[in-house]
Amino acid sequence: MSRILLQIDGKEVEAREGLTILEVAQNEGIVIPALCHHEKLDPYGGCRICIVEVEVRGRTKLVASCVYLVEENLFVRTRSEKIDRIRKMILELLLAHAPDSPQLLDLAQEYGADKDRFEKETSFCVHCGLCVRYCAEVKKKNAVGFVDRGIRKEISFIPKIAAKECRNCKECFSLCPTSALQAAFVLTEALFSPPRSSEVESEG
Ligand code: SF4
Ligand code: FES
Repeated sequence: MSRILLQIDGKEVEAREGLTILEVAQNEGIVIPALCHHEKLDPYGGCRICIVEVEVRGRTKLVASCVYLVEENLFVRTRSEKIDRIRKMILELLLAHAPDSPQLLDLAQEYGADKDRFEKETSFCVHCGLCVRYCAEVKKKNAVGFVDRGIRKEISFIPKIAAKECRNCKECFSLCPTSALQAAFVLTEALFSPPRSSEVESEG
């Protein structure tokens, strides 16, 4: 596979064809924030926090670095006033959903994002899709998915599959940047847990 020469933040970098800007930056120790990216999963490009500026053949544009493949003579900037402004806005919107997420709060500090800028819509899920994609692509179980659409979209375990597959797995939990996933699982677990004897007695 051929090698490509490009520049990231003024540093000349040699990369393998087929890699994304984010992967190459990570290999070089250059930090780009990424919320919906996972090295075991197909590129997704959902959260846009990994946005960078690229200049190719004299044209400059903003792209999501986790899905944009490196090209010969590409110039990449990972920080600028414009990039930071966009990341700040994305964080403020996400924090309205998950105001206590440590990962978001760390990034908010770095980008000067105000966690109270937008009215709170605390669904806790920021729709990164990591849990859904990990379960489908890595575990091949599809025990968790999205229900509804738009702002009402939320995460849901499929009780029938979760009862069989999730108790001894739970690998998706640590991927979630908020507490939404654990909360959804606890709710689902209640559906497939057998009733305790005291509950059965009191029902009778
Ligand atoms: S529950 Fe967590 S991991 Fe799953 S989509 Fe929502 S924020 Fe992402
Ligand atoms: S990490 Fe690139 S869009 Fe989310």
